[in-house]
Amino acid sequence: MPKIIILPANVSAEVDPGTKLLDAGEKAGVEMEAGCFNCSCGTCVARVISGMENLSPPSDEELDVLDQWNKDPEKYRLTCCVTLDKGEVVLAQEH
Ligand code: FES
Repeated sequence: MPKIIILPANVSAEVDPGTKLLDAGEKAGVEMEAGCFNCSCGTCVARVISGMENLSPPSDEELDVLDQWNKDPEKYRLTCCVTLDKGEVVLAQEH
């Protein structure tokens, strides 16, 4: 099963493939920051420390929002838009 690890709390959870990062984080017991839940506000931004290759590719919508927030999509993702499809991902909460 795919696994999420969240820093700095250093908590983790195993989730079904295709789980949104936001939901995976909640499952790990972390209160995830979010606003619109719809890939448009950018509140849910998180830094991906490792495992970017295990996440679903960004939509144009997500890339637009990351650009507005001046966040590099190679390092940051919006947790309400992205799914964890396989393997392991390590996130750092920005808020
Ligand atoms: S909660 Fe608004 S973009 Fe994710």
